Amino acid sequence: MIALSLAEIASVTGGQTHDIPDTSVQVTGQVVRDSREAGPGSLFVAFAGERADGHDFAAAVVEAGAVAVLASRPVGVPAIVVDDVQRALGALARHVVERLGATLVALTGSAGKTSTKDLIAQVLRTKAPTVFTPGSLNNEIGLPLTALSATEETRFLVLEMGARGIGHIRYLADLTPPKIGLVLNVGTAHIGEFGGREQIAQAKGELVEGLPEDGTAVLNADDPLVRAMASRTKARVLLFGESDEADVRAENVRLTGNGQPSFSLHTPTGCSEVTMRLYGEHHVSNALAAAAVAHELGMSADEIATALSEAGSLSRWRMEVTERPDGVTIVNDAYNANPESMRAALRALAAMGKGRRTWAVLGQMAELGDEALAEHDAVGRLAVRLNVSKLVAVGGREASWLQLGAYNEGSWGEESVHVSDAQSAVDLLRSQLRPGDVVLVKASRSVGLERVAQALVEGAEGEVAVR
Ligand SMILES: Nc1ncnc2c1ncn2[C@@H]1O[C@H](COP(=O)(O)OP(=O)(O)OP(=O)(O)O)[C@@H](O)[C@H]1O
Ligand SMILES: [Mg+2]
Repeated sequence: MIALSLAEIASVTGGQTHDIPDTSVQVTGQVVRDSREAGPGSLFVAFAGERADGHDFAAAVVEAGAVAVLASRPVGVPAIVVDDVQRALGALARHVVERLGATLVALTGSAGKTSTKDLIAQVLRTKAPTVFTPGSLNNEIGLPLTALSATEETRFLVLEMGARGIGHIRYLADLTPPKIGLVLNVGTAHIGEFGGREQIAQAKGELVEGLPEDGTAVLNADDPLVRAMASRTKARVLLFGESDEADVRAENVRLTGNGQPSFSLHTPTGCSEVTMRLYGEHHVSNALAAAAVAHELGMSADEIATALSEAGSLSRWRMEVTERPDGVTIVNDAYNANPESMRAALRALAAMGKGRRTWAVLGQMAELGDEALAEHDAVGRLAVRLNVSKLVAVGGREASWLQLGAYNEGSWGEESVHVSDAQSAVDLLRSQLRPGDVVLVKASRSVGLERVAQALVEGAEGEVAVR
């Protein structure tokens, strides 16, 4: 964090100082919520969680070098005591970003936020120091903590914003008001909590409503609900996508033999070829979004294309490819799934597995409402059309729909099987995998299929317990 005195922090958060002999002492280190991360010069934020109460660690963090604790009650060591720790953290983040010289970029959407945020960061940091959300810490606590990790050197601050309801994005965008606001897509994630796609669009669009006149709304031209958000902002609108209308476009999109997307990137200032290191064509949209942001921040098509072609996967379980010593390839895409990314992952599997035996180990796509039966059926059929050698559908009713779709498309006998749980899938694969096979593992987050991928990755060397 930029250096701030305890007196200043108390004033910004409306807190009372307790057990602080000298309030001119500065916080010069990180603002942390995990006591194990506290170090010299840090500020520890004490949350009372379900399992542990941060206040219990106050003495330990000061011992580790923390300057003070942001707390909701006196803790016997230097503390700034506030009524509501979360609000205080937010107020501190807002104060700090106002003082930073950095340009704030915020993004939201139903799917691909983390993947895109990681791409944006990897492109922008070739230009200037960039701080970005670690992993998927996109809520009212992770967002301010990320913002507070910026320093005087930071030029770009890239923040992922997540929403589970109306008003959430507005709250986050008020804490850290972006100059550039990017909306990726409106899908079905958390549709139950929202009520419908229109409500999801309403919630995601809050990001562009708060943008300043000299800001930019970066919108997906290929998604009608996102495209329509142009009317909700006073900022300039920049469109990305494969549509002709898009300012930043991809042409000639194809998958390489490895399942990696390749395309011609067109920006308003030029054109350049991109071949990604990431797998699956859903990353084209993510890459175009990143390119649009980078273009807006003054990068040329060549600079953007080079950085996109070098960008790797920074977050786990997203098309994570492991080559086992015995020549089996495991593709772990178990972080999450929706119909679009299922199709993209299957196409990538087919491309990677040319001339090899391919396995699709798939589980439920959650939150599809009335569409669930048709979507699972369609994915099962697509696996057969793409000539995937073996489909292993894992789980309950939805998995049986996947398998039935494959069966009805002509995949009989042992080509498609339905197993009830992760352990059965691991047992089956362990007994049948042969050198040279390629295995894709994918389902919605709640299914937890990363256990299967991990067991298979480590299973080459020894036994791994499946929880
Ligand atoms: N552009 C996209 N369109 C559709 N699906 C995508 C896209 N990009 C990624 N995905 C899928 O969504 C999953 C989650 O990706 P990612 O973590 O980037 O999304 P997220 O929006 O950050 O998710 P979360 O809401 O959990 O933070 C990936 O495993 C992939 O299957
Ligand atoms: Mg995320």
